[in-house]
Amino acid sequence: MINVGVIGAGAIVRRGHLPALKDLPEVEVKAIADLNEDLVKNIAGEFQISNYFSDPLKIIEDPSIDLIDICTPSGTHCELIKHAAQQGKNIMVEKPLTTTIEDALEIYHTVVKAGVKLNVVQNWRYFPVVFQVKERIDKGYLGKIVGMQGAALTNFPAGWTRNKWLYHEGAALFDFAPHLIDLMLWLNGSDVKTVYALGGDITGGDMGFVNHTQIIMEFASGATATAIISWVTECFTFTVDVYGTGGNVALDVRNAHYYEMHGVQTPLDDIRKAAGKTIRVAKDVLNKNYFKGALLYFKPLIKDFIESIKENKEEPVPVRHGVMVTAVLCGAMESLKTKKHIELNFMS
Ligand SMILES: NC(=O)c1ccc[n+]([C@@H]2O[C@H](COP(=O)([O-])OP(=O)(O)OC[C@H]3O[C@@H](n4cnc5c(N)ncnc54)[C@H](O)[C@@H]3O)[C@@H](O)[C@H]2O)c1
Repeated sequence: MINVGVIGAGAIVRRGHLPALKDLPEVEVKAIADLNEDLVKNIAGEFQISNYFSDPLKIIEDPSIDLIDICTPSGTHCELIKHAAQQGKNIMVEKPLTTTIEDALEIYHTVVKAGVKLNVVQNWRYFPVVFQVKERIDKGYLGKIVGMQGAALTNFPAGWTRNKWLYHEGAALFDFAPHLIDLMLWLNGSDVKTVYALGGDITGGDMGFVNHTQIIMEFASGATATAIISWVTECFTFTVDVYGTGGNVALDVRNAHYYEMHGVQTPLDDIRKAAGKTIRVAKDVLNKNYFKGALLYFKPLIKDFIESIKENKEEPVPVRHGVMVTAVLCGAMESLKTKKHIELNFMS
């Protein structure tokens, strides 16, 4: 049995982490902490957690707890991770790992030195269709990846949390972009070398934070990619097109569909692609299984992380990968401010 202590009792804990943790027989949620005393009391009551605190150190320093689940605002992750690692705890942390490259590197060195396991919660890569595409790429069906084009588009997340921390200067860049950047980096399996970003506050400065941006990346492998992330579009889209020397894949996560192409495209390819997606969507609608969101995917991710702890294997989303994703986000932020392209050479 793995004893878990959860830090943070906000939106993602209530909607994602606690329903998943409570549904895993190999896990017991021993305690929860949140600076907001009323909130933590209510959530502990709702999920029948007997120990609740307003001080997260009460959990981090409890010797009976094996795994710390950090679900606080992204800018607070670093301090909590450092405390937990120094206490020898394994750590699960919400995306993004953190919000500055200095913090990311400090986390990396602390975690490696402490010899603990850390997994970043990147639940969007757990959609089954994403795993199918990853397998096709890893088996070499697309040849060498030379380009990617991703889109993570939604409307303003006004109903998510009442807390204002979400609207720090990076906002959408550090909120929705981590899912897309994680997925693109994971699918390609290469570090990013250079980042350039466009956009920012598309309302002309009225909002004062990044709500729409397009990131251009060059990978160490030589591949190039663009990722467009927005909080100001009406339609919800989460897609990644992957272009290789041996074929292309069009991945549409929301519609649980991918289409793989080889050779010169014919009209039949376009018909197959459209028909395949229509059939897929129709089946999912009829089976009441159409896009239920990414909250369903905390459970398999936590299961995989626990297995990596038990079997002393690499975590599903290890700290180094979390550092790389954070570096892309921070590089994009710097590029938006300086209008220059940013070299990411810190891990060498
Ligand atoms: N994986 C996903 O799909 C997903 C979705 C949304 C949010 N997130 C991530 O989850 C994290 C939390 O987001 P949220 O939407 O739940 O935010 P939230 O504002 O709803 O909740 C955060 C909670 O943390 C508490 N808190 C702040 N500092 C603390 C500290 N030092 N110790 C203990 N408690 C503290 C706050 O009181 C608040 O209740 C962020 O990193 C965010 O990026 C992930």
